[in-house]
Amino acid sequence: MANNYFLTILCTTFIVVVGGSALIRAMPPQNPIQCNQTGCILYNSYGVWDDRKTCHVAAAVYPTTEEELRLAVANANKNKLKVKVVSKFSHTILKLACPTARNGNAVLISTERYNSSIVVDVANLAVTVDAGVGLRPLIDRVEEEGLSLVAATYWEGVSIGGAVSTGGHGSSWWGKGGAIHDHVIGVRLIVPGNASEGFARVLDLKGDDPLLNAARASLGVLGVISKVTLSLERGFKRSITLNFTNDNGIEDEFMEHAKRYEFGDIQWYPSRYRAVYRYDDRVPLDTSGDGVYDFIGFRPILAVIPETVRALEKAAEATKNQNPKCIMATLSIAYRKLIANGLKNNLVFTGYPVIGHQGKMQTSGSCLYSPQTDKDSVCAWDPRIKGLFFYESSAILPATTFADFIRDVKKLRNINPDNFCGVDMYDGFLIRFISKSDAYLGQAEDSVVVDFNYYRADEASTPRLNEDVLEEVEQMAFFKYSGKPHWAKNRKLDFAGVKDKYPNFSKFIGAKNVLDPDNMFSSKWSDEVLLGQAEKVKEDGCALEGQCICSEDRHCSPGNGYYCRTGLVYKEARVCRYSGFRSG
Ligand SMILES: Cc1cc2nc3c(=O)[nH]c(=O)nc-3n(C[C@H](O)[C@H](O)[C@H](O)COP(=O)(O)OP(=O)(O)OC[C@H]3O[C@@H](n4cnc5c(N)ncnc54)[C@H](O)[C@@H]3O)c2cc1C
Ligand SMILES: *[C@@H]1O[C@H](CO)[C@@H](O)[C@H](O)[C@H]1NC(C)=O
Ligand SMILES: *[C@@H]1O[C@H](CO)[C@@H](O)[C@H](O)[C@H]1NC(C)=O
Ligand SMILES: *[C@@H]1O[C@H](CO)[C@@H](O)[C@H](O)[C@H]1NC(C)=O
Ligand SMILES: *[C@@H]1O[C@H](CO)[C@@H](O)[C@H](O)[C@H]1NC(C)=O
Ligand SMILES: *[C@@H]1O[C@H](CO)[C@@H](O)[C@H](O)[C@H]1NC(C)=O
Repeated sequence: MANNYFLTILCTTFIVVVGGSALIRAMPPQNPIQCNQTGCILYNSYGVWDDRKTCHVAAAVYPTTEEELRLAVANANKNKLKVKVVSKFSHTILKLACPTARNGNAVLISTERYNSSIVVDVANLAVTVDAGVGLRPLIDRVEEEGLSLVAATYWEGVSIGGAVSTGGHGSSWWGKGGAIHDHVIGVRLIVPGNASEGFARVLDLKGDDPLLNAARASLGVLGVISKVTLSLERGFKRSITLNFTNDNGIEDEFMEHAKRYEFGDIQWYPSRYRAVYRYDDRVPLDTSGDGVYDFIGFRPILAVIPETVRALEKAAEATKNQNPKCIMATLSIAYRKLIANGLKNNLVFTGYPVIGHQGKMQTSGSCLYSPQTDKDSVCAWDPRIKGLFFYESSAILPATTFADFIRDVKKLRNINPDNFCGVDMYDGFLIRFISKSDAYLGQAEDSVVVDFNYYRADEASTPRLNEDVLEEVEQMAFFKYSGKPHWAKNRKLDFAGVKDKYPNFSKFIGAKNVLDPDNMFSSKWSDEVLLGQAEKVKEDGCALEGQCICSEDRHCSPGNGYYCRTGLVYKEARVCRYSGFRSG
């Protein structure tokens, strides 16, 4: 009965999605910095930070040239203000873009208007861009010159400065690999200076300057990146085929898959026993095909659809019934298969392989565009609607331990596959590849990144359905298999001990102490993560939001029947499990 009801709504929803996509008009994301006479508030793209606290800042400045950027740093330094840089996009999920005030005074430097210069050096296969330039304008400009940027995040709504600073990546073990910062060959960095230097200095880091290895992925704590120089390659096309198949042997195949296909990835839906292998190779420019990848999850969507999905999720959560989530997972996978995840040979998907220019295939985000006036459709997570709201976990594991991680997750899945429906109705587990890096905060070896999104409650104190299962996966990834967190995603607990996981971490801190000795660019968040100064006090309910690992029941939600228990497969895990209204 309940299922029929859900099915009816879902089918209607999907008909609206399929049938309505031609009519869509969109409202672009809102500006992350909102100011009035009393000050400013910084939001991220989801409208809520990891700790759910508001980020208040005294003022925001919008430099348009490198000299204005330098003056902004000088001015802040002279006045002993804390500083953070933020892009027009502010897609960081973690609070790393929020300055913590010294004497209540902090300033945000926005790169929103520092985005005019893109200089392509065709002869040397390189491009130098202002840090505020978006990934899309950069790629389009480079392609006009017959060149290609090889690595990109899958989502194009990032600035170059932001993407490089947080280790933004796509997927590749070939060449320089899938992380954008490994294609960086130069950084112009503005750091505090003394009075005779005018309170700020511009450093031009290139070649084998060791500071470049610090600046490649710098979390915004070294200073302001003014310009980034990236290496390019001769233009090429991509040929993509998606193989929707079963998930037997992912653990035995991923390595070969990554070696065989330059841009391969794997999407794994454990509850459905499904895997989607992306066969993705570069092909010469003269190969016929004018395809586009307009990823389904990043398209503008009628607000009513994510609102309906959210309402269904909340109903499923409230009744502790995972069936609706399983139905949504099944329908979502079927729909994705039908439309090839958003790959289009021309205007629509007509069959594999889909072949198109690198610039049209490497990244997408059509929900970013369209006129401000039309409010019918948005990015599915737009905070102005009651749409999708979720956690994003992203663990970077050494390739050598990844198979064991998959085996463990399968063991947990086999106990009750439906426990994974909540993650499968999003994107399941997205498995991508990044290479060994020279960056101090890059990877010391070829690695596998696994991303998974899942429901986040409206209230911090509300436990989630099958909370324990994904907590166990998370703790396996980060602690049993020593996974490293993506610098812009994840929940706070995942950062515990991160400094011991990077062999060159102390070199990074050394560079930070040289470039920013007075910690102008440090914040509460960076001190906690980089210096290991996390608060030791665990508040009631802290495990629900990933602010801690539970060690007592009160860290979960005993009032709702969730107690701190051991993991089912990874016995060292401590997770919040629903066991009814008894503490036995
Ligand atoms: C929908 C979505 C999809 C995503 N997909 C991917 C993906 O496929 N792969 C991936 O790796 N990541 C992905 N991410 C994460 C994303 O790459 C990071 O959040 C990235 O940092 C966003 O860039 P931004 O320009 O919005 O940065 P911001 O959020 O503006 O800034 C990020 C950090 O960099 C610092 N910073 C920014 N500009 C500068 C500068 N000029 N100088 C110094 N510091 C600076 C900021 O202080 C902040 O600490 C995704 C995020 C979202 C929301
Ligand atoms: C002005 O901003 C402050 C914080 O910066 C906020 O508390 C207040 O609600 C805002 N007022 C208006 C009218 O937007
Ligand atoms: C810079 O940003 C403005 C406003 O967002 C935009 O119109 C312009 O196209 C951008 N320029 C480049 C080179 O990206
Ligand atoms: C300022 O810094 C420069 C370069 O680091 C140094 O040579 C100079 O002595 C410093 N001046 C003062 C007044 O500290
Ligand atoms: C899809 O993947 C499966 C598992 O790796 C493989 O057996 C099958 O041959 C593949 N199909 C195609 C069309 O490549
Ligand atoms: C990082 O550390 C490793 C191990 O100590 C070392 O081999 C490597 O050269 C270092 N990388 C850089 C860029 O310093």
